[in-house]
Amino acid sequence: MSATVESQDPNIVWHQHAVDKAFRANLKKQKSAVLWFTGLSGAGKSTVAGALESKLAQLGYHTYLLDGDNVRHGLCKDLTFSDSDRKENIRRIGELAKLMADAGLIVLSAFISPHRSERQMVRDLLPEGEFIEVYVNVPLEVCEQRDPKGLYKKARAGEIKNFTGIDSLYEAPQAAEIDLPAGELDVPQLVDLMITSLEQRGVIQA
Ligand code: ADX
Repeated sequence: MSATVESQDPNIVWHQHAVDKAFRANLKKQKSAVLWFTGLSGAGKSTVAGALESKLAQLGYHTYLLDGDNVRHGLCKDLTFSDSDRKENIRRIGELAKLMADAGLIVLSAFISPHRSERQMVRDLLPEGEFIEVYVNVPLEVCEQRDPKGLYKKARAGEIKNFTGIDSLYEAPQAAEIDLPAGELDVPQLVDLMITSLEQRGVIQA
């Protein structure tokens, strides 16, 4: 954990505790990481992240899955889908993911996180190599055809405003660490791809 965390108030000083991030991760026999799934609604972020979390748990890793829809029932229930509220959503999740990584966990997050600047903001919160951006890469047409929650239909009918991909922008990653062809492969294949990539990156043991 960096000791140079800045506060807006000069009277609030960072306290460095004896049990630190490395200690907590070592106790769990793993390295901290944040696997940041981004993609359109209906791309399969939660599904793939959930299946990967199950696999990691089977392998004995300690994880936590932060899911967009779930977090918007609690921590972020006051936020809308305006650009500024989406930014605040990702800022909070980023700080939360950082705390969970500090606890020594492998964090999986599944949020549309449509703006490059916010994803970069979260990346900058973490040490080099700990933020792994995973683009759940599915064309809009396919997501709209799947429409698992019927939300695209509502957005096209004008019943939902600021819907990502319809009347709100999604900026695809330009250099994600992992680009998942989630329109072409099934979930077990995508989990296998993820496991191989995490092994190659040294996040988990081969
Ligand atoms: S984000 O843009 O702020 O990252 P987040 O991942 O938390 O979005 O929430 C997205 C989920 O909220 C979608 O999967 C969908 O179920 C639901 N949702 C409701 N309204 C919208 C909207 N206007 N745009 C996108 N998703 C929406």
